Amino acid sequence: MTKKKLIAGNWKMNGSLAANEALVKALVAGVATPACDIAVCVPAPYLAQVQSLVTGSPIAVGAQDVSAQAQGAFTGEQSATMLKEFDVRYAIVGHSERRQYHGETDEIVSAKTAAALANGITPIVCVGETLAQREAGETEAVVKRQLAAVIHVNGHCISEIVVAYEPVWAIGTGKTATPEQAQAVHAVLRAQLHHAASEHAAGIRILYGGSMNAANAAELLAQADIDGGLIGGASLKAPDFLQIIAAAR
Ligand code: PGA
Repeated sequence: MTKKKLIAGNWKMNGSLAANEALVKALVAGVATPACDIAVCVPAPYLAQVQSLVTGSPIAVGAQDVSAQAQGAFTGEQSATMLKEFDVRYAIVGHSERRQYHGETDEIVSAKTAAALANGITPIVCVGETLAQREAGETEAVVKRQLAAVIHVNGHCISEIVVAYEPVWAIGTGKTATPEQAQAVHAVLRAQLHHAASEHAAGIRILYGGSMNAANAAELLAQADIDGGLIGGASLKAPDFLQIIAAAR
């Protein structure tokens, strides 16, 4: 099975109309014919702007969250159908910052995954352990529990998801998991997906995220079960993001 890698930028709460325009124009000018799939996950107010900037390019637009609800009295949330109107192709779900600062549980993450899938948006489901959990030897149990909840609710279409392994201790810290550390967890996740969707598991993309940058991307992306990256800080600098894209083949 040919499986293209996916390089997704997670802008988090960064950007402005002017900065986005400069960044996306530089990306569009620099991508040419990439060997991988590319997305930028932008703050909701900028979806329309970025959608029009990437039109005609190989860059897709993603959201950073999606509501589990279809519509109604849920102040501040955006439904999958609304995102779909802006041609949103991907939605990050269960990022550790949402789990940590917004109390998102495994159940909420599973419901958000279902809402995205029901509307033709590919969820990028994030899992990952904290430093304390890693030091306590709980890494495997934590990521398996997080993914199991999503599989439990979405087992019938699990082959449609993207998984992102993001060790919390590596996010925004400049501390990257070594390729061996990352690959070990990715292999655990792959085995779990294999159990849930045997014939499709090899085709499910498992991204690595956590201080991936232009210097370390190639080595991480060379690992057998690393099928792309979810990139925060380095996705805000066009030359760095383009270098990561070039490393994904
Ligand atoms: P980082 O963020 O690349 O800045 O570590 C990754 C993420 O949180 O998705």
